[in-house]
Amino acid sequence: MDCCCAYLRSYCEPRSDTRTEKPKQSNQASAAGRQTFESSCAPCHGLNGKGGERAPDIATRPEIVRLSDNETLKVLRNGILQKGMPPFAALGPAKLSDALNYLRSLQGKSKALTLMATSEEGKDIFTGKGGCSQCHMIHGAGGFLGPDLSDYGANHSADNVRSAIVSADKRPGSRKGLVHATTNDGRQISGLVRNEDNFSVQLQALDGTFHLLDKSAVSELTSDSAPLMPDNYGSSLSKSELDQLVGYLLSVAHTERD
Ligand code: HEC
Ligand code: HEC
Repeated sequence: MDCCCAYLRSYCEPRSDTRTEKPKQSNQASAAGRQTFESSCAPCHGLNGKGGERAPDIATRPEIVRLSDNETLKVLRNGILQKGMPPFAALGPAKLSDALNYLRSLQGKSKALTLMATSEEGKDIFTGKGGCSQCHMIHGAGGFLGPDLSDYGANHSADNVRSAIVSADKRPGSRKGLVHATTNDGRQISGLVRNEDNFSVQLQALDGTFHLLDKSAVSELTSDSAPLMPDNYGSSLSKSELDQLVGYLLSVAHTERD
């Protein structure tokens, strides 16, 4: 009915609703990725990637979600033969990367959730059980004897952060121990050396105050050989607590950067 169209043009003509138009390319890629995933991966990992009888959950487990693209692609190419994951190098790089993208979309929602949960729990460990905030500042809150860690996660990998926490030789810092000074008039001050020359030494005490001491007024100056930062986090924190802590340090740095 022509007359209707003339009056009610807007009803008759196809509407162009830009909101529902998705970029074609990503649609195609995700359709291809879905196909590859459903035919090659789902038989073991399930359509949603959450695992089945033959293979584990690869959509929500944090240790899998957190693997980098390269690490995941390596698993896909080489498989884990002794554990029953076949190699998929034969699919070729394009299909592998489609499958990875599709896997990422399955992980997408859970990744955000996992990161949020991780960083909440990690924050609790940072300020509570781990006692990190006694010495380290993050975005303005915490102690000052250790370096500010607000941006630490931005330029360190998860592995680097973890090793810096558990072993002193992996920390590039000075790893200085506490210094204990006894002055001629019997005062005792413990702290970290912040400055020193031939005649004077400046200590920052545990309460944050600075003390500039004349060396001639100091009767004894000894220093702990062990670094100030506790060196038993590898045993006092469990593996998953360390994961959460590392996740927290990475996430505060990233949110700040975004
Ligand atoms: C024949 C069954 C099977 C198929 C098919 C299969 N997997 Fe697996 N996959 C496994 C098993 C079993 C494991 C657990 C290996 C282990 O315990 O370390 C695994 C582990 C993984 C992991 C975790 C690796 C890690 O570091 O723990 C990823 C990621 C993964 N598979 C992705 C895929 C993708 C993507 C596909 C499709 C291209 C696929 N898998 C196809 C059986 C399978
Ligand atoms: C008693 C004080 C103290 C506590 C508690 C402490 N640290 Fe430290 N931390 C330091 C000091 C001092 C340094 C710098 C010297 C060194 O590397 O040992 C440091 C260095 C670091 C570094 C390396 C920073 C850099 O710029 O190289 C990281 C990462 C770190 N600490 C994380 C933590 C975490 C996470 C915790 C809690 C699990 C923690 N620290 C608990 C004092 C502390």
